Amino acid sequence: MDAQTVIDMEQEYVLGVYGRPPFVLERGQNCTLYDTEGKAYLDLVAGIAVNALGYDDAGIKQAITEATTSGVLHVSNLYHSAPHAQLAKQLCETSFADKVHFANSGAEATEGAFKFARRYAREKGKEDKYHILAFTNAFHGRLYGALAATPRPKYQDPFKPLMPGVRFAEFNNLESARAQMDENVCAIIVEPVQGEGGLYVATNEFLSGLRSLADEFDAVLIFDEVQCGVGRTGTLWAYQGYQHDGKPIEPDIMTAAKPLAGGLPIGAIMIRQKIADAMHKGDHGSTFAGGLLVTHVAQHVIGRISEPAFLAEVQAKGKLLKELLEELNSPHIKEVRGRGLMVGVEMDIDVTPIVNKGYERGLLLVSAGANVLRFVPPLIISAEEIKHAVTQLDEILQEV
Ligand SMILES: Cc1ncc(COP(=O)(O)O)c(C=O)c1O
Repeated sequence: MDAQTVIDMEQEYVLGVYGRPPFVLERGQNCTLYDTEGKAYLDLVAGIAVNALGYDDAGIKQAITEATTSGVLHVSNLYHSAPHAQLAKQLCETSFADKVHFANSGAEATEGAFKFARRYAREKGKEDKYHILAFTNAFHGRLYGALAATPRPKYQDPFKPLMPGVRFAEFNNLESARAQMDENVCAIIVEPVQGEGGLYVATNEFLSGLRSLADEFDAVLIFDEVQCGVGRTGTLWAYQGYQHDGKPIEPDIMTAAKPLAGGLPIGAIMIRQKIADAMHKGDHGSTFAGGLLVTHVAQHVIGRISEPAFLAEVQAKGKLLKELLEELNSPHIKEVRGRGLMVGVEMDIDVTPIVNKGYERGLLLVSAGANVLRFVPPLIISAEEIKHAVTQLDEILQEV
């Protein structure tokens, strides 16, 4: 089907909540996507940090084939299934977690994390302990609970009233967080590296201070690793790149989603035993979550990305990307920040024209808010591709 036919059909039948460029992506190989006219695009977006292993990954294709040969695509969560249990084991063995509960997306994982935190407080008989502390520039998803913890008026205002009981403090400001804490806070939720909000990296002191605050007030600490987890920052889990006074900083609950099943929809809520102990049969559930296909594919993704050599490459390529971006010579660049292959360039202008010029040159770029260019390419991107992309960006910046 040609591009115009698809675009016209979408216009007529699809709800218009996304603004889309005038081409239709059709196939992909490694870090390159091709549209219906055969034009190639080097992808620095990866489906917004989803396609960590790029396109046409042989392992993912094999895992899909393996998972479908049984002839069973779905068994209800009423029944046991091997891939579900195996992925949960793998996630626990690679992290702080003792138990895993699956969801279908990042926002659903956030909702589950909030429910678990509230349940944990209730189990202790604390009826008023249902407040959640979140931070400026946070993004936790678009469902009602997650949206309540995502302080952007543009996202929230048209849909009010939201879930009550969410308060906010300034990101990376411990005093601000402390000022919001009291006995009624059941959870603190934070992204170790903020994605949508503009690629702000939490400091060691901040995360460590939140850990102490959570302990002091008997609240659970939730790390939202939906965007920054699964190798993106150069460690399998972003929190594993943090420590304070030589000690690791670990959450009580962590959410993961986006890249976990290689492009298939999945979410995971990873929890400590004490939280698991507060959840009882029938307390939470979902028809599709943790299905046979997605959990089988996710095992391949985690297996591949958790290899030390793979993560070392992410770190090296992230460093290269950041260095090259820092060398760019544009009066509009205010700051380059990020960790691993999760980097933002904050500008003093709206970056939409830059993204549009990228399309013309065969470069897929994405913003984070109006003024930040966000780089979340497939983790398999090569050094040559990074250099090519930054050279292209350099030329674009001379035109804006
Ligand atoms: C940090 C973070 N949390 C949660 C979400 C929501 O995930 P989903 O879009 O899968 O619902 C996102 C999505 O961008 C995210 O970046």
